[in-house]
Amino acid sequence: MSRPLKPLFKQEHSDEISNRSANPVFSDVASAFLSRRRFLQMGVVAGAAVSFPALLKSPAAWAVESAISRPSSLGFTSIAVSTDDTVRVPEGYVARPFYRWGDAVGLKGNLPEFKTDGSNTTDEQAAQAGMHHDGMAWFSLPLGGDDPHHGLLAMNHEYIDNGLLFKDGVANWNLDKVRKGQNAMGISVIEVKKEGDSWTVVRPSEFARRITVNTPMKLTGPAKHHALMKTEADPQGETVLGTMQNCANGHTPWGTYLTCEENWSDIFVKKAAPNALEKRYGISDSDESYRWNEVDPRFSVDATPNEPNRFGWVVEIDPYNPQSTPRKHTALGRFKHEGAAITLAADNRVVAYMGDDQKFEYIYKFVSANKYDASQREAAMDLLSEGTLYVAKFNEDGSGTWLPLVYGQGGLDESNGFASQGELLIKTRLAADVVGATKMDRPEWIAVDPLAAGSVYCTLTNNSDRGKEGKAPVDAANPRANNVYGHIMHWTEENNDPASGAFKWDILVLGGKPDSADEKAKGSMNGAEFGSADGLSFDHRGVLWIQTDVSSSTINKKAYEGMGNNQMLATVPGTNEYRRFLTGPRGCEITGIAFTPDNRTLFINIQHPGEPGDDISDPANPTAVSTWPDGDKNGRPRSSTVVIVKADGGIIGS
Ligand code: FEO
Ligand code: CA
Ligand code: CA
Repeated sequence: MSRPLKPLFKQEHSDEISNRSANPVFSDVASAFLSRRRFLQMGVVAGAAVSFPALLKSPAAWAVESAISRPSSLGFTSIAVSTDDTVRVPEGYVARPFYRWGDAVGLKGNLPEFKTDGSNTTDEQAAQAGMHHDGMAWFSLPLGGDDPHHGLLAMNHEYIDNGLLFKDGVANWNLDKVRKGQNAMGISVIEVKKEGDSWTVVRPSEFARRITVNTPMKLTGPAKHHALMKTEADPQGETVLGTMQNCANGHTPWGTYLTCEENWSDIFVKKAAPNALEKRYGISDSDESYRWNEVDPRFSVDATPNEPNRFGWVVEIDPYNPQSTPRKHTALGRFKHEGAAITLAADNRVVAYMGDDQKFEYIYKFVSANKYDASQREAAMDLLSEGTLYVAKFNEDGSGTWLPLVYGQGGLDESNGFASQGELLIKTRLAADVVGATKMDRPEWIAVDPLAAGSVYCTLTNNSDRGKEGKAPVDAANPRANNVYGHIMHWTEENNDPASGAFKWDILVLGGKPDSADEKAKGSMNGAEFGSADGLSFDHRGVLWIQTDVSSSTINKKAYEGMGNNQMLATVPGTNEYRRFLTGPRGCEITGIAFTPDNRTLFINIQHPGEPGDDISDPANPTAVSTWPDGDKNGRPRSSTVVIVKADGGIIGS
């Protein structure tokens, strides 16, 4: 059987455009309010001599908010950019690969060793770390405590590289290979412990768990039991097998992990013409896919038309109970979920902020119907099953509105193709189009300031299509055409209450090179330059940490020439000073952030070290780009969690 020889098994970012809706982007309406002079001030007119957008917040405006216990500055010396094939951290810090792809997860009586030639079996892979570690969270042991030396790490394995996963790559394609790939995705839960100065993965552990693309999970919320969620294998529309393409994450105050399904549509293939819903979510007939559809009919949309509707959700996992069934919460909407940043409203309702990572997609917020009661963990487990989903509209004057996505309101009814709340949620993107949400430059991670109620940040990683002929033009919130460096948004909820319907927004920083002579390439930061911010999280002291994901084909090239390998930075909001804390090995992105409660240990993930620019790895030469972390030219590069401590045991960043 002849096959295309170049299946792309990576497609980490679906950065193509699915949103061709005609809902006005901001600048269509802005002209009614803004003079050309104002546009010039904001730097949104192509070719004009520009200053940074007026909505970049001045350091003075931050003075009040930063008064609590936030440090006034960072305590480490910014490191240089690096193109070396290693992890670099500032002097006084130690970084060590800790849980690599193929390391045993710690299941009792099942601790398979990693084979460096890709020959681990499908069953072995189900008991080992998956590939492409991404979002991650810390949970102290026991439940309810805050021990900084003993806990669980739950983490995502976002995608796979079949050139590394198999000894012979994609040759002799068959169902067993697909199953091994499915076992290399999903989630790991590992038990970790600090003994003396050293962190170890506890093996075996009663908590150790791998969740894969075939682990049963329960649906909750309005789309459960909907006709569009039913399949032959699940005629009730209530039990889905697995989660996949899990990108970033969240964690709840009641000690559960949230994992977010991002580029799931890359896995589904439909040979017949896609319908409007499938098109809006980017399902195509492309053979440049994972090829699971060829041998596992669940991923052929022609064979199993409703299966794609069962992906694109946020999944809640109880890491403290390895027997628990994960739940897919349909109330939080269906899109290409980047992460789910959780906070509590003034009245203790639960709020989740979520980005949809694709060019010109939206930022969402969910507010639970019921309130969190810390003494009722079981009841808390249902909080994400019922509530209101909103989508963000960023107005040109720095105000913003959360537009409710509620059946029967704002045109979200039969006239626009929604017959129920369940249907609306399955078609979340289409509903957001109807209400006129603002098209953003690829919303990635969102972080809530732990020291300033209602103060929220979101990375907009990049959007090279912004302002192109026939594409959405620049607007105040996405102010640069051909936005290759991205920016970080900030907003403050009205009355500092995360449940508010309105907010005020500004831009924290524009990515790029501060010294560039090209105004359009200028970064607005002082200190370490960066672009394509992706990972974003506060530590317990209110320091904001930023991780970059410049695509493998662009690392240290083109617009990113001289900027080195992907990196991690820190800033104290309000200072506009950015320091480079870590640089990664070749071909990787930096992602995943988890601090222990004492802020003295930081876990991060190195994803896809050695990834070639535009293709999967060559199984005949898998170390062409990187040998990290093992340094074995005859081995394979391996995604890995990295544990970072200060050599003197001090607070990270101090
Ligand atoms: Fe998986 Fe949007 O990064
Ligand atoms: Ca990401
Ligand atoms: Ca990414």
